[in-house]
Amino acid sequence: MEQAALWGGVWVALLFSDQALGPLSAYLQGNLNERLTAHLNRTLMQKINSFEDLTPFEYETFYNRVQLLREQASFQPTNLIIFLSTSARDLFTAIPLLAVSATLGWWVPLALLVATAPYALVSLGLQRAIWETVTGTNPEARRMDYAASLLLNPQYAKEHRLFRTGDFWIAFYLENFRKLHRAMAARRREQLAKNLGTLALSLLGFAASVFGVLQRRPSAGQVAMLLATLNQLQQSLLLLAQDGAMLLETLLYMDEVRSFLEEKPSLTASPGIRVKEAPPKIEFDNVYFSYPDGRKALSGVSFTLPPGELFGLVGENGAGKTTLVKLLLRFYEPSEGKILVDGKNLAELDLVAWRKRVAAIFQDYGRYALTLGENVALSDLERMEDEDGVRRALASAGGEELVTKLPQGLHTPLTKEFGGTELSGGEWQKVALARAFYRERARVMVLDEPTAALDPLAEVELYQRFAELARGRTTLLISHRLASVRHAHRILVLKEGRLIEEGDHEELLRKGGEYARMWEAQRTWYR
Ligand SMILES: Nc1ncnc2c1ncn2[C@@H]1O[C@H](COP(=O)(O)OP(=O)(O)O)[C@@H](O)[C@H]1O
Ligand SMILES: [Mg+2]
Repeated sequence: MEQAALWGGVWVALLFSDQALGPLSAYLQGNLNERLTAHLNRTLMQKINSFEDLTPFEYETFYNRVQLLREQASFQPTNLIIFLSTSARDLFTAIPLLAVSATLGWWVPLALLVATAPYALVSLGLQRAIWETVTGTNPEARRMDYAASLLLNPQYAKEHRLFRTGDFWIAFYLENFRKLHRAMAARRREQLAKNLGTLALSLLGFAASVFGVLQRRPSAGQVAMLLATLNQLQQSLLLLAQDGAMLLETLLYMDEVRSFLEEKPSLTASPGIRVKEAPPKIEFDNVYFSYPDGRKALSGVSFTLPPGELFGLVGENGAGKTTLVKLLLRFYEPSEGKILVDGKNLAELDLVAWRKRVAAIFQDYGRYALTLGENVALSDLERMEDEDGVRRALASAGGEELVTKLPQGLHTPLTKEFGGTELSGGEWQKVALARAFYRERARVMVLDEPTAALDPLAEVELYQRFAELARGRTTLLISHRLASVRHAHRILVLKEGRLIEEGDHEELLRKGGEYARMWEAQRTWYR
C-alpha cells in the first residue's frame, strides 16, 4: 500500500514537472531573451559610439548594416540557443535510430540518408538565399521605417497636415513594402517548391526502405516496430535539416555582428599629446577637404588665430564655414594640409582632451527629451548635478526667465514625447547657448549660426553677448551676416571653400573686395 502511494507520488511529481517545463522554459526564455537582446544592443551602441569621427555617417551601407543588426537583435541570440539545442536534439535522436535501422539491413540508414540529403542541402541553400534577400532589401526596409517614423515626428507633423503629405508617406511605405515583399515572396515560393520536391524524394527513400525490409517477410509485430523506427528516423532527419537551416541563418547573422564589431573605426580616441590649459593658438596650414562623396568643401585654406582673440568667419551659405569647424573638432581629417594647435598637429593631440576644450553650438543643435537642467548640463556630464552652474549658464544665455516660467523649474521635462513640455525655437536656442556656456573648461568657443530663428538685429545682439562672455578664450563667430562679426579682431572671408580675404572690419571695407560688396548688399537688413 505504502509502495503504491510512493509510486503514485513519483508519478504525480513527474507529470507535474513535465507540465511545468513549458511555463518554466517560457519564463527562462523570456528573461534570457530580454537580457541577450539588451546585451547585444549595448555592444552595438558601444561600437557605433567608438567611431570618433563622422565619416561612417556618410555611407548608406553603415545605416543598412546597423539597422539589420539592431532589428534582429531581439530574436537572433535566442534563436541561436534554440536552434543549437534543437539541432543537437535532432542529431542525438537520429544517431541511435540510424544504428537500430542498420540492424534491419546495412543499406537502410544509407538509403534514408541519401534520400534526405537533397532536402537538407536545398534547405540550407535556400536559407542562405533568404538571408541574402533580407540583407539586399534592407534599403526598402529602412525606407518603410523612415516613412512610418516620419508620421510620428512632431517636427514634421505640421507639414504633413498643411501639405496633406500623410497619404504620400503611407504610399511611400507601401511602395517599398511591395518591393521588399515581392523579393521575399519570390524566395519563399522557390523555397516551397524545392522543399516539396526534395521532401517527396525523401519519402521515396522511406518507402523504398520499408519495401526492401518487407521482402524479408517479418512478423506482424516486427512490421509495426520497423515502421515506427523508420518513420521516426525519417522525421528526425527532416527536422535536423530544418533546424540546421534555421541555425545557419542565425550563424550568418552572428557572423555579420562579428564582422561589424571587428571593423576598424576610421578614428578612435587614442591618447596623444597633452592639451594645454590655456586658450590655444590655432593654425590651418594649406588645408584641403573633400567629403567622402567627393564634394570639395575647402581648398588650400591657411590662417592663424592667436590665442584668446575673437575671430569672425564669414561667407555665403555653402562657403565651407561649418566644414572648417568640423575639421577643427576632428570630425573629419583634412584631405591635405595640417591643422596645428599650439604648433602641434591636431592629429597627434589627445582627442578627448581636445574636444573637452571646445564649446561649439551648431545650427542643428540637439533638443533632448530630458529636463531643462539636464539639457544644459549635458555638455559637462561630470558636473551634472551643479544646479548653480546650470542657472549661471542659463542666465548668460539670456534664458533665466525659463526657470521661473516652467512649472518645475530646472526639473521640467522637455518635449512631449515622454510627457514633458515644449519650448519655442528661440527658447531652445537659449538652452543650446547655455549648454555651451556650461562647459566652463572650454578654451575655444564656437558659435556657428544657431540663429536661424532670429532676425538680423537680434543675431547681432546675441553674437555680441556671446563674444563678451567668451572673452579671453579663442573664439570663432561664424555667420553669413557680416554685421554679427564686425567687432571681431580679425575676420576671415570664405568663398567656395577658399579663403579670399582677411583683416578687421575697417581694413576689409577699405580693400573694396568681396567683403565690402557683401557689406553693401546687407546694409538694408539693419535699417
Ligand atoms: N556631409 C556632406 N557631404 C557632402 N557635401 C557636404 C556635406 N556637408 C556639407 N557639404 C557641402 O560642402 C559645402 C560647404 O558646406 P558647409 O561647410 O556646411 O557650408 P556653410 O557652413 O558655409 O554654409 C557645401 O557645398 C555643402 O553642400
Ligand atoms: Mg554652416
